[in-house]
Amino acid sequence: MKYISIQEAIEKNSGKVSIRGWVHRERGSNKMKFIVLRDSSNIIQCVLKKENFTKQWNEIDKLQVESSIMLTGTIKEDKRAPSGYEIQVNQFELVGKSDNYPITKDQSVEFLADHRHLWLRSQKMTTILKIRSTVFGAIDEFFKGEGFYEYHSPVFQAVQCEGGSDLFSVDYFGKKDVFLAQTWQLYAEPAIFGLEKIYTIAPSFRAEKSKTSRHLTEYWHAEMEMAWATFKDIQDYGEKLIKHVVKQVLEKNKTELEFLGRDISKLKPIVTKPFVRMTYTEALKILDKKCQMKVPWGKDLRTIEEEKLTKLYDVPIICTHYPKKVKAFYMTEDPDNPKVVLGCDFLAPEGYGEIIGGSHREHDIEKVKKRLKEDGEKPEEYEFYLDTRRYGSVPHGGFGLGVERIITWICKLDNIKDSIPFPRTMERYKP
Ligand code: 4AD
Ligand code: MG
Repeated sequence: MKYISIQEAIEKNSGKVSIRGWVHRERGSNKMKFIVLRDSSNIIQCVLKKENFTKQWNEIDKLQVESSIMLTGTIKEDKRAPSGYEIQVNQFELVGKSDNYPITKDQSVEFLADHRHLWLRSQKMTTILKIRSTVFGAIDEFFKGEGFYEYHSPVFQAVQCEGGSDLFSVDYFGKKDVFLAQTWQLYAEPAIFGLEKIYTIAPSFRAEKSKTSRHLTEYWHAEMEMAWATFKDIQDYGEKLIKHVVKQVLEKNKTELEFLGRDISKLKPIVTKPFVRMTYTEALKILDKKCQMKVPWGKDLRTIEEEKLTKLYDVPIICTHYPKKVKAFYMTEDPDNPKVVLGCDFLAPEGYGEIIGGSHREHDIEKVKKRLKEDGEKPEEYEFYLDTRRYGSVPHGGFGLGVERIITWICKLDNIKDSIPFPRTMERYKP
């Protein structure tokens, strides 16, 4: 017996098929059992008549949702059935019994989070995870296609890069100055002197104390670093990457986007239209004029401001030249205005906000040291990093894309937690 997927069976359209999967829904009478079977590809209605299964009827009659079964039967079109097809079953085998599956209709968000390992099987989660798979593949394909090497940095690190306040410390054989990586950056910059163009997709960790719909404590971070890069190169690569990812999802996940009710017309401009580029200072002016929001110059943009700003455009905004004091120590001071840095945030439309953070890297070692001190850091701890500015330094830069952030936006999810199989937040680290 050769088992095919439900989708393949549907495409076959008629004749004998063997399929296997899990009982998605069931109902029956004393003569018939209707099963909607699910596998990773689709769902299909299957009909089992008592007269054909006298010996097995007791087992079939008691079948509950999520039991795993294998069956053979004849497939035909049936407009009334959930996916437009039905199978008249003549062979049936129970593989794994399921008793009182805990997940039923209308359960609370908390209950579903406690049963995440089971909720993963839901059509909603499966659909999102298929898109997630496309996104990871597209990122990889993009960078490889642009001549970047895949490179790996340590997760245990003894330095901070994005501010000390949200570091996770680890008990490293009794030593306390070890943290989980917030970013690969300080270990990526040394590698561009050999490989020039590098990227990674790896977990990053942030001890975010905020309970928002867009922060995880563990998230997947797609990062790139590049020798000889101008600030414009960094922005151009970020734009091309996002265009490529969205294009791939539009091509490969039409069914999934439809299932999620995603308005595809909102994603199409991302592929075809240039992104909006503006400086932080210009952003403040637009916020004032069009959104009646007054942000004093020098203050970082808050979620609410990013939200309002991104709703004005149908493509991401690349916001540049932020005040130096709100950005990380490694960003290049603008030669024309030392109050701002050559850093950029990519803000996703529809209120989704920051998905990429990137910058050109400060090459002046004295400036780097000074800013580290201002952050309360000891430059001595960063000697390995400072060597990147001592031996044949070149202009360079890079960015980091929050993979769950882009998935959340592409799928138009309410909360970032649904973009990852087992979300980790301040309150949840189980199951
Ligand atoms: O802006 P961030 O902090 O930049 C960096 O880490 C740089 N070192 C990257 C680089 O230049 N190589 O983080 C980059 C991105 C953000 O734009 C956001 O998309 C995501 O990482 N991110 C988070 N995603 C989910 N949960 C969190 N708590 C996140 N914090 C940042
Ligand atoms: Mg950022």
